[in-house]
Amino acid sequence: MTAESSSTGKNARLSIASKTSEMPVRSGTLGPDVVDIGRLYRDTGCFTYDPGFTSTANCSSKITYIDGDNGILLHRGYPIDQLAEQSNFLEVCYLLLNGELPNKSQFKEFDAAITRHTMVHEQMTRFYTGFRRDAHPMAVVCGVIGAMSAFYHDSTDINDPEQRRIAANRMIAKMPTIAAMAYKYSVGQPFIYPRNDLDYAANFLQMCFAVPCEPYVVNPVIARALDKIFILHADHEQNASTSTVRLAGSSGANPFACIAAGVACLWGPAHGGANEAALNMLQEIGTVDRIPEYIKMAKDKNSGFRLMGFGHRVYKNYDPRAKVMQKTCHEVLDSLGIRDEPLLKVAMELERIALQDDYFVEKKLYPNIDFYSGITLRAMGFPVQLFTVLFAIARTVGWIAQWREMIEDPEQRIGRPRQLYIGAPQRDFIPMGSRS
Ligand code: ACO
Repeated sequence: MTAESSSTGKNARLSIASKTSEMPVRSGTLGPDVVDIGRLYRDTGCFTYDPGFTSTANCSSKITYIDGDNGILLHRGYPIDQLAEQSNFLEVCYLLLNGELPNKSQFKEFDAAITRHTMVHEQMTRFYTGFRRDAHPMAVVCGVIGAMSAFYHDSTDINDPEQRRIAANRMIAKMPTIAAMAYKYSVGQPFIYPRNDLDYAANFLQMCFAVPCEPYVVNPVIARALDKIFILHADHEQNASTSTVRLAGSSGANPFACIAAGVACLWGPAHGGANEAALNMLQEIGTVDRIPEYIKMAKDKNSGFRLMGFGHRVYKNYDPRAKVMQKTCHEVLDSLGIRDEPLLKVAMELERIALQDDYFVEKKLYPNIDFYSGITLRAMGFPVQLFTVLFAIARTVGWIAQWREMIEDPEQRIGRPRQLYIGAPQRDFIPMGSRS
């Protein structure tokens, strides 16, 4: 327990047979108190059992706070909607990494540090050609990020704060380049170098969609929308991929290896792949008149069907990011002159019906961020396979901020969960000739 958390003065007491453990109850700044069970095993000989960590805090953190019941998401105390509407992605990166919003000169310096490090080592371009062209871009990105520790040895000493800072900047700066190169490789087009005159999102758009034979003009509405999408995905406290990064980092692994682990975890359909599933579902529904049929299926446990883009482990209210995402979706479609997008009509009607339906109301199932992001990204021109890669670009700052916080935490130890063993009890080896 870090020095910043405070004791409530209360203790929880757990008695098992004749053994008792007194466990201090600690408070953070916001959110539920935690019972510090660190002495439980020593006192009682028992572990706790909590698959999926539904009741377990794995660390203390100052970065992000979520109140799922009230639909609140704060980064370093600032509400996500204010950051999405009034800030920009690089400023949010600075905030997540450093704890405070930058002043003008701090921002200028940070902006320059990121912008001037967007190129990757030229030899890395050859690394791509080792992959099949039809490889999933997440497979390529995961491999290339892992390979970064083979290219940037001078920022892998985790005990040197300056090397940790450089590694963080490198990851944030190079991730869009690595992702855009994965995309260009998959479509057989030449890699496009970063441009230092463009901001973070606009530069990513040009690295994805420019070709050497003609000038590429960035649509400012799309660039701003993409910047917002990056902000909305920047961090989300101890989610599966972030916990993976922390666990990998707890062994002292270098930051590039840890982020590669995070990318691998994000790839799963229950995590970063959900927006693709939501888009596929909207396409399958196709027209508004078929919605009742799908609502009926979603309520029927035997159907095995769930409304994709609905429900969340933590939010039992409207996901605050989904509100911004819905607005951004309208802005993007309007700016592209897409007036009658059938999928948007299906999405809005589905949302309206579900929000009034007793099943969804009682189970507190609301649209999550993935409900509208698929439609938006597709309208921007991104292929479905790239959706999770875009999520990875945005989440890189969250991963690296959480990794740095963990390394700097004096209470950090290697992560080593325990288990409830349910296998065979001890038995003697039987030579093969004697086995029945
Ligand atoms: N459609 C229909 N019913 C649902 C849905 C849904 N989308 N989500 C949950 N339910 C029901 C469950 O059947 C369950 O019903 P029961 O209590 O009668 O058994 C109840 O609501 C609670 O659901 P759980 O699965 O226990 O909730 P959990 O917190 O484990 O799951 C999850 C959350 C995985 C997000 C779930 O809501 C889901 O599968 N949603 C669809 C997939 C999706 O959109 N994922 C994106 C998440 S956001 C992100 O990762 C960025």
